[in-house]
Amino acid sequence: MIITIDGPAGAGKSTVAKALARRLGFRFLDTGAMYRAVALAGLRAGVDWSGPEELSRLAAGLQIEVDGDRTLLNGEDVTDAVRQSEVTALTRFAADNAQVRDRLVRLQRELAANGNVVTEGRDQGTVAFPDADLKVFLTATPEERARRRLHDLQRQGERVLYHDLLAQQERRDREDAARPVGPLRRAPDAVEVVTDGMSFDAVVNHLVELVNDRRRTAEDR
Ligand code: DC
Repeated sequence: MIITIDGPAGAGKSTVAKALARRLGFRFLDTGAMYRAVALAGLRAGVDWSGPEELSRLAAGLQIEVDGDRTLLNGEDVTDAVRQSEVTALTRFAADNAQVRDRLVRLQRELAANGNVVTEGRDQGTVAFPDADLKVFLTATPEERARRRLHDLQRQGERVLYHDLLAQQERRDREDAARPVGPLRRAPDAVEVVTDGMSFDAVVNHLVELVNDRRRTAEDR
């Protein structure tokens, strides 16, 4: 069974997808980490970011593995390195690159072959797995997403302003929607879940119910 979870930045997709995968005993595929790993490799190799060619060539030879919570780049654990803000800022060069996307989508399909998977990203239900058993579009209003991010960062001791976070997020939303390849879109057959006012546990429980509904419908057929 393949379950896709797509949605904008800050909607809580990763934590929700991870918790759902654990509840179901499925594998969890963090596809954002794969784009981040390509950007990290580009940064380390000092590629020319002004055109797509160098990054495309580099990406073609990379070995990227996502294993549970860990991200491996050519066998090295880069789980924390790919979350650094410098890498986050460069990741759009990987995400906007048609050849990189093509390679990563193929890799995602290989990783999901013959298994039960919860996969999370922007294009999982639209491009990578158009025949997924359940597609979820997980979102929240921009204000709610920025508020949650503010709380997370404040808990980590960072001093940030709500309005700056909201502006950053709006920029990422625009980039995600305007991407010429693999843009963020709700698949027509995706179930939209708006999480404003819902607790984390309530969201995960709701998704488990959606999965169980799909399983019952499949059995009745
Ligand atoms: O979810 P995230 O923040 O780790 O994603 C990192 C970047 O990669 C983000 O800018 C969107 C992009 N991305 C994408 O284009 N397609 C995916 N399937 C997953 C992420």
